[in-house]
Amino acid sequence: MTGSTAMTSTVPAPPDARPGYFGRFGGQFVPESLFGALDELTSAWEFARSDPDFLAELDLLRTRYGGRPTPLYHARRLSEEAGFEVHLKREDLAHTGSHKLNNVVGQALLALRMGKPRVIAETGAGQHGVATATAAALFGLDCTVYMGAEDCRRQRLNVVRMQLLGAEVRPVESGSRTLKDAINEAMRDWVTNVDTTHYLIGSAMGPHPFPTMVRELQAVISLESRQQWAAQAGDAPGGPADLPDAVIACVGGGSNAIGSFADYIEHDSVALIGVEAAGQGIGSGHSAATISEGREAILHGARMVALVDDDGQVQPAHSVSAGLDYPGVGPEHAHLAETGRATYVSATDDDALFGFRRTCELEGIIPALEPSHAVGWLLRHGSDLLEPGARVVLTMSGRGDKDVDEVVRVAGWDVGVDADDGDGPDVPPSTVTTTGGGDA
Ligand SMILES: Cc1ncc(COP(=O)(O)O)c(C=O)c1O
Repeated sequence: MTGSTAMTSTVPAPPDARPGYFGRFGGQFVPESLFGALDELTSAWEFARSDPDFLAELDLLRTRYGGRPTPLYHARRLSEEAGFEVHLKREDLAHTGSHKLNNVVGQALLALRMGKPRVIAETGAGQHGVATATAAALFGLDCTVYMGAEDCRRQRLNVVRMQLLGAEVRPVESGSRTLKDAINEAMRDWVTNVDTTHYLIGSAMGPHPFPTMVRELQAVISLESRQQWAAQAGDAPGGPADLPDAVIACVGGGSNAIGSFADYIEHDSVALIGVEAAGQGIGSGHSAATISEGREAILHGARMVALVDDDGQVQPAHSVSAGLDYPGVGPEHAHLAETGRATYVSATDDDALFGFRRTCELEGIIPALEPSHAVGWLLRHGSDLLEPGARVVLTMSGRGDKDVDEVVRVAGWDVGVDADDGDGPDVPPSTVTTTGGGDA
């Protein structure tokens, strides 16, 4: 396919949509001091999204700098084990190692157009922070990234990457010292420095226009995968297997999933499956499965679904993966869940670690822990929703270099480099316990 990346996604607006709403969810619930900045951003985005110069520049950066299109790869050994035909959309091969750059480059170009010399960002896994620091270096912007102190510990590699790229990383010690707390601090910074600063939100969440803008910038994932499917895997257009049976993606705030779903939403034959992090299990009190366990709430500037108690207090989330360790989910996902167009399931830490190991062992790909949730769910629970042999696109949203140390720590392996310790391999092979879907 060519490098051309049309910007419009085909997500149908709900019939009674107010601008910035997905059904009941979305909106702008922010302090008055941010109204001006959100209006300015909305206008800049509305103009840019149909401005040929903006689109051409974005397209050029995505292809020649960012490495798009990313491959759609038929993972044969994983398919065999899962019992489904699995095609991985390889966002892990994009520059900086995840889907996050798709959104960041678009918003950084907007910051330049709005004349803002400084960008700030929140980050959990560090991938959005790295992408933002990358764009800031590329465009000569000042960059500050807020990151929970616990996430700085477990994603140390990405802290160093951001620093090498010239960003200031501010560890956040409040609350659970994870993504939610980093967003709180970034919001505070934005309110204080709104004239000079663009808050480059990293997921399909936050006040309008962020959820819409991030979805449109991430829609490149599904726009590409549909073309690639038609060229590589499907029948001729209109044929019985013109489209995959399902599209599967992990869900933190929801950006890689909404980008993966966007161009399939109007095709009802395609099941859309979002995989949330269930941490130590649904009902354990240590989970980040927002749609499974949460309720309607206002969080971080929008009406969404979040883990809150009876008094509306936000509850701490838990996941082995820093990028999914967030107690909310973006408004469009809340709406897709409510209307039943997408199905949201969950994978535990253990499922994710299993998905991580099997992707390494079967495909020679070290995945990030976030998409490992999607792989783990497919291997162990896919047959709950999918027919044997179902043909699926699964978004491999990032690569796992950042997670290697944490996986070793959680698993308790002794990986000292004493090659002669005589007690066999330091990293034991995984034990296969799938309940996949049959023959692929
Ligand atoms: C590789 C990767 N995948 C997924 C996510 C989750 O974010 P989102 O739901 O916005 O895609 C993150 C977040 O940091 C990530 O780094």
